[in-house]
Amino acid sequence: MQTSSSPSTYNPTRAELEAFWMPFTANRQFKANPRIFVSAKDMHFTTHDGRQVLDGTAGLWCVNAGHCRPQIVEAIHQQVATLDYAPAFQMGHPGVFQLADQLVKMLPGYDHVFFANSGSEAVESALKIAIAYHRVCGQGTRQRLIGRERGYHGVGFGGISVGGIRPNRKFFGSLLNGVDHLPHTHNLEHNAFSRQQPEWGAHLADELERIVALHDASNIAAVIVEPVAGSTGVLIPPKGYLQRLRQICDKHGILLIFDEVITGFGRLGTGFATEYFDVMPDMIIVAKGLTNGTVPMGAVFVRQGIYDAFMNGPEQAIELLHGYTYSGHPVACAAGLATLEIYRQEGLFQHAQELSTYWEEAVHSLKGLPHVIDLRNLGLVAAIELESIPGKPTARAFECFLRCYERGLLIRTTGDIIALSPPLIIEKQHIDEMFGLLAEVLKGLE
Ligand SMILES: Cc1ncc(COP(=O)(O)O)c(C=O)c1O
Repeated sequence: MQTSSSPSTYNPTRAELEAFWMPFTANRQFKANPRIFVSAKDMHFTTHDGRQVLDGTAGLWCVNAGHCRPQIVEAIHQQVATLDYAPAFQMGHPGVFQLADQLVKMLPGYDHVFFANSGSEAVESALKIAIAYHRVCGQGTRQRLIGRERGYHGVGFGGISVGGIRPNRKFFGSLLNGVDHLPHTHNLEHNAFSRQQPEWGAHLADELERIVALHDASNIAAVIVEPVAGSTGVLIPPKGYLQRLRQICDKHGILLIFDEVITGFGRLGTGFATEYFDVMPDMIIVAKGLTNGTVPMGAVFVRQGIYDAFMNGPEQAIELLHGYTYSGHPVACAAGLATLEIYRQEGLFQHAQELSTYWEEAVHSLKGLPHVIDLRNLGLVAAIELESIPGKPTARAFECFLRCYERGLLIRTTGDIIALSPPLIIEKQHIDEMFGLLAEVLKGLE
């Protein structure tokens, strides 16, 4: 059925284009030559001018089961017609308990889930839980937070404070007090063209000892890192690095938080990065693939014991003074339950794992092409790092993005790095198509 909200073609008016302040977008550049998707199915988008575009990025790292899956669409329809909303505070509904139960069963060792509506909100929730946890444990001086350079943890004030992306921080004032940053681990001199985890760099985790020595462990609440940093260009942790962070946190009673907003739900060929790296953080933040990108939702898994620490005091007292009107929204929960069912039924995490070697070969087949200074991969993620045009950082990768889009492939760029993270339903012929087209575009770049 064609409705005004689902046009098969669309020519935006100037007024429509101008009214919308687009996020993380060069508004003027975009509006001079808009790129608009009007529909999507499985591995492809359809553009406003009627072309098919292969999705090389699962939207924004979120559509892991592919687009417009009927099971999810139906679950959302049914839910919104049955119970469109239920108050999130002091009330419940079936889906929120069922989804929490299914999630904790996916991750042994984590016994409770807190719901938010995005990765950013889940990050803020985790940071607040970490500080409050120490307080309820009688260690209220533990308030400092430690992030990492080139980390991305969304756009809340907590997230940009622990995040390590200069442009995302510099406009927004003094941010949170009491935050330090570990060095990032990206180093082409040592690790260029590594396959999977690079050999060099585990020692960079020892910087945590320096920060602890400076502030004293009794003042530090938590360390937050992405196990694989996505948004700053797919930075894969060196072998042993995450294990070392875990050891140092344990030694000093510091909570370790993994932000798995992109690695969660199969991206590395396991359910979560914690399983892939065999390192158990104290909290795990997820979003995106939780609902296959259909309805906004984020969540924080907490390790056994964290929730219990809050369950003191009088029974009528609210234990955690935090939450959102839409925490565990019924429609998001329905989408989440249907999404998890697809992951299970189709064995998509396993499928990702099985394709990862083929993917790796395809990624590294680009070695030697013009301007390519690094290729890296893990699971179904990859980065192609290009040499910047002198004086024009980002320009070369963005030109590649535009040419790929024109020729029918969606990629994502950050700086001069191309990031690839396709839906996990991808098949070998899509991988061939994706890298064949990329090779042609790279050969033609200035
Ligand atoms: C690691 C990580 N954390 C947090 C976020 C923020 O998620 P959202 O955009 O849903 O707020 C993102 C988004 O890309 C992310 O990659």
